[in-house]
Order: sequence, then structure tokens, then C-alpha cells
Amino acid sequence: MAKVVISTLLLVLFLPGCYYDNKETMYGASSCDTTNVTYSLKIAPLINQKCIGCHSAASATAGVDLSSYNQVVKYGQSKQLQGTIKQLPGYETKLMPPGGKLDNCNISLVDIWVRKGMPQ
Ligand code: HEC
Repeated sequence: MAKVVISTLLLVLFLPGCYYDNKETMYGASSCDTTNVTYSLKIAPLINQKCIGCHSAASATAGVDLSSYNQVVKYGQSKQLQGTIKQLPGYETKLMPPGGKLDNCNISLVDIWVRKGMPQ
């Protein structure tokens, strides 16, 4: 009986702790705003900050232009967007941006956006 009480107590004490720990390691100390994940509010600013230097219309490295909604949707549909930022199978050597992986919050934003059907 005492064992059950103690395990229950431990569960109650540590479950919320684990939850918050995970959230912090996933998103860092600051919070990740996953509301209103649209192209114009979340994805375009991310691409302008992290990708456009190499993938603009004028300078489309590897032929990849990420400067408009239609272009980004095209790479979302082909899974190249998710493949390169997450290094999915087939993209192991093509991490984008090449300098270092996006943080988990930005990767989540792309995942959520794709799951929602890539709203403009
Ligand atoms: C420093 C320049 C640079 C930045 C910044 C950059 N890329 Fe790239 N990108 C490249 C190069 C170089 C290639 C060609 C890589 C190869 O084929 O090995 C490429 C290829 C790609 C491809 C095509 C991959 C394929 O072969 O299927 C996609 C999609 C892509 N980048 C998306 C992105 C995204 C999304 C970002 C921002 C998160 C980004 N890139 C940031 C240089 C860059």
C-alpha cells in the first residue's frame, strides 16, 4: 500500500515536471508562438531571415527560388522544404540553411504550416 501511495506521489510530482522540461528543451527558454501559422505571418519572415540570401528570385542557388508564396508551396508539396530543414532520408547532405539547423520552434512552424495545408 505504501508503495502505491509513494509511486502515485512520485508520478504526480514528476509528470508535470517532465512536461515542462520537454517544452523547454524543445523550444528553448522563450516560448514558441504556434498561433496563426500562415505564410505571411510566420513562414515568409522565417524564409526572409534564413533562406532568401541564397534563394531569392535574382539569385536562386541550385535553381531554388523561395521569394514568393507559390514558390514556397511548390517546395512544400515536393517535400524538399521539410526534407532539407529536417535532414530527412535523402537530404542528409543538404541541410538548409547550410550553416546550421533551424531551431525547433522554426521547424515546428514549418511542420504546422504544411499540416494545415500551407495557408497564405
Ligand atoms: C548559404 C546559402 C544557402 C542558404 C542560406 C540556404 N540554402 Fe538552400 N541551398 C543552398 C545550396 C548550395 C543548395 C544546393 C545543395 C545541394 O544540391 O547539395 C541548396 C538547395 C536547396 C534546396 C533543394 C534541395 C534538393 O536538392 O532537393 C531546397 C529545397 C533549399 N535549398 C531550401 C532552403 C531553405 C528552406 C533554406 C532556409 C531555411 C535555405 N535553403 C537556405 C544554399 C543555401
